[in-house]
Amino acid sequence: MADREYSESSDRIIATEPVEVRRYAAHTRINHWFTAILIILLILSGFALFWPRLFFLTGIFGGGQNARFLHPIFGVVACLSFLLLFLQLWKLNLMRREDVVWASKITDLLAGHEERLPELGKYNLGQKLVFWGMFWLLLTMVASGLMIWQQFFPDLVSIPVRRWALLVHSIAAVLSVLVIIVHVYAAIWTRGTISAMTSGNVTGGWAWRHHRKWLREVARRQDSPPAE
Ligand code: HEM
Repeated sequence: MADREYSESSDRIIATEPVEVRRYAAHTRINHWFTAILIILLILSGFALFWPRLFFLTGIFGGGQNARFLHPIFGVVACLSFLLLFLQLWKLNLMRREDVVWASKITDLLAGHEERLPELGKYNLGQKLVFWGMFWLLLTMVASGLMIWQQFFPDLVSIPVRRWALLVHSIAAVLSVLVIIVHVYAAIWTRGTISAMTSGNVTGGWAWRHHRKWLREVARRQDSPPAE
């Protein structure tokens, strides 16, 4: 077990020149982008219904009725898709002692002195917080969403509860858009990260600089593969 604390079994070092490291298998990347596309459709259809000035967005879905019908379906499918991603990644997103030290030295990171921070596994604290934020917000949205899905569940809760559910649903939606903006911004800000989710690989330098504990573990495992 200690053999795979910071990495997935498919992670590996590829002996190209320069060296690359496999960070995501194809099925994880497909799962990620499928979830991302659904969440974007979810946001567009949700905001179209949320604010009258954005009602024009319903045009993307063929009108208000279609947007109203499709929005909860996008939501359920997005949650199921995220669940698959969650099952693959939750262990690597558990909090660890080094995350606390990392957070206490965040000013060094912002000043460009990442070498002063502790070595990290596959994810840093920021990524972990985004991950758990997405998880809890999606859970909140699917639970409150079922309560306000009158077409299929008209008698699930009383009218006062439904009103509260609508408020909770809207707040969670706005928060989740903020979390996704942070996620995309961080992916762009940390140069070399996007390729992890497109080609599946990062450079050896990227892995050494940002996730050294992860890289060390992948290298150790590759040096001594488990006995057949
Ligand atoms: C639409 C624009 C998006 C872009 C450009 C993007 C980009 C990325 C990139 C580059 C990574 C790899 C980060 C790394 O391995 O260090 C990643 C990871 C991930 N993304 Fe996205 N993403 C997007 C949307 C989403 C959405 C909408 C969700 C789900 C609600 C999502 C969930 C995740 C998760 C769970 C991970 C794994 C990170 C972790 O487990 O902490 N992404 N994304």
